[in-house]
Amino acid sequence: MSKKSLFIKTYGCQMNVYDSARMADVLSPLGYRLVESADQADMVVLNTCHIREKATEKVFSELGRLRPLKDRPEGAILAVAGCVAQAEGEEILARAPFVDIVVGPQAYHRLPQLVAEATRAAGGVLDTEFPIDAKFDLLPEPTEAQAVSAFLTIQEGCDKFCSFCVVPYTRGAEFSRPVAAVVAEAERLVALGARELTLLGQNVNAYHGDGPDGVVWGLGQLLRRLAEVPGLHRLRYTTSHPGDVDEALIAAHREVPQVMPFLHLPVQSGSDRLLKAMNRRHTADDYRRLVDRLRAARPDLALSSDFIVGYPGESDADHQASLTLIREIGFAQAYSFKYSARPGTPAALEANRVPDAVADQRLQEVQALLLEQMRAFNRATVGTTQRVLFEKPGRHPGQIVGRTPYLQAVHVEAPLSRLGREADVWIDAVATHSLAGRLCQQDPETEAAA
Ligand code: SAH
Ligand code: SF4
Ligand code: F3S
Repeated sequence: MSKKSLFIKTYGCQMNVYDSARMADVLSPLGYRLVESADQADMVVLNTCHIREKATEKVFSELGRLRPLKDRPEGAILAVAGCVAQAEGEEILARAPFVDIVVGPQAYHRLPQLVAEATRAAGGVLDTEFPIDAKFDLLPEPTEAQAVSAFLTIQEGCDKFCSFCVVPYTRGAEFSRPVAAVVAEAERLVALGARELTLLGQNVNAYHGDGPDGVVWGLGQLLRRLAEVPGLHRLRYTTSHPGDVDEALIAAHREVPQVMPFLHLPVQSGSDRLLKAMNRRHTADDYRRLVDRLRAARPDLALSSDFIVGYPGESDADHQASLTLIREIGFAQAYSFKYSARPGTPAALEANRVPDAVADQRLQEVQALLLEQMRAFNRATVGTTQRVLFEKPGRHPGQIVGRTPYLQAVHVEAPLSRLGREADVWIDAVATHSLAGRLCQQDPETEAAA
């Protein structure tokens, strides 16, 4: 079998990062090895995101740039995967007829056949079915060495249908992997070097997988089981919907030390009127009360969130309500986006659009407030001791980089032998996007646990 090179460019969310790794696994038996650039690659995959218009447009401009690859004598195979492939498969083949393969997120296990068909066929091949056979059963297990912090998809799809969002259309209905499959993959990832796992799902806390006891398990119960995997130091999960945080999940935050006290919990808006229009199925007060319960369970919990500004009909009062909610909750960090009308979603049909200039202004205000909160949160860690899991060498020799429980990057002078291990670090400085610190006096427990 001849060696071939594969370049995968990943856009969008962590689910796509996980899927890209699985695509590399599924193509590996065909002789494909990952490379760092598209220039010399025999196959290029764009794993795309459809969430906002900008994300989608990027795909078409990237395809334009990649087109010359097809003019080489042996012509590279060009594939478009991910959510744009799912939503606009036909349009891709029409606008970029030089594309060989268009493959939706549920069909990655069929990539080997698609590659074979593409090499035979003259035009592009399209596979965007939602097959009944679960993609996870048919994708190979990870075999490559894993980063210290690895992703594990446990749930896919979404049944929430927030009025602005394409995910229920691109990823389909909610599906949860069985507990045994998740545990087996977690054990495998740890054997390959992972020490922290982030469980992924578009609506991860709606997880309801078949348990080994014949009963359906929720996320709280799954986290408890995963905490028993030897060598696994840290657990995270993303992304959650406030409506699906149940008592068992809150209890896991209270009682399972491996569950990190940092939670991405999107709220989108602080205005009940808009939350209703968005079909979020919760009010701003529901969110406040939920955060209170989570903080009561885990007082050191820090929060992250997502906000949309400029949703159709958003008034200045709605905007102020979002700012008020942000001030009240206090986020360690958060993302905010200008509303983007997405084809096929109910919100795209609403007439009362917010003028661009107004939305831009509001976005700036929300981002300025969130940035201020993030800076304050980071500053507050200076002069404290933080537990840090070391992930990789730093840019300077002798330096390694790890993360606090709150995902803050910390640069520390320490030997590479510390990678994959946790240690207490005294934080002594803060830059915009990272912290710097020193190892606390060696504690014998850290040494023994490694
Ligand atoms: N499943 C996750 C992630 C959805 S996409 C969740 O439910 O939170 C990530 C974020 O993108 C969303 O939380 C939302 O803030 C933003 N987003 C989704 N659709 C959008 C749109 N049409 N315009 C602007 N932002 C959007
Ligand atoms: Fe989209 Fe809402 Fe589902 Fe999140 S919960 S993926 S925002 S529809
Ligand atoms: Fe984008 Fe699809 Fe993820 S639309 S955010 S890549 S689920």
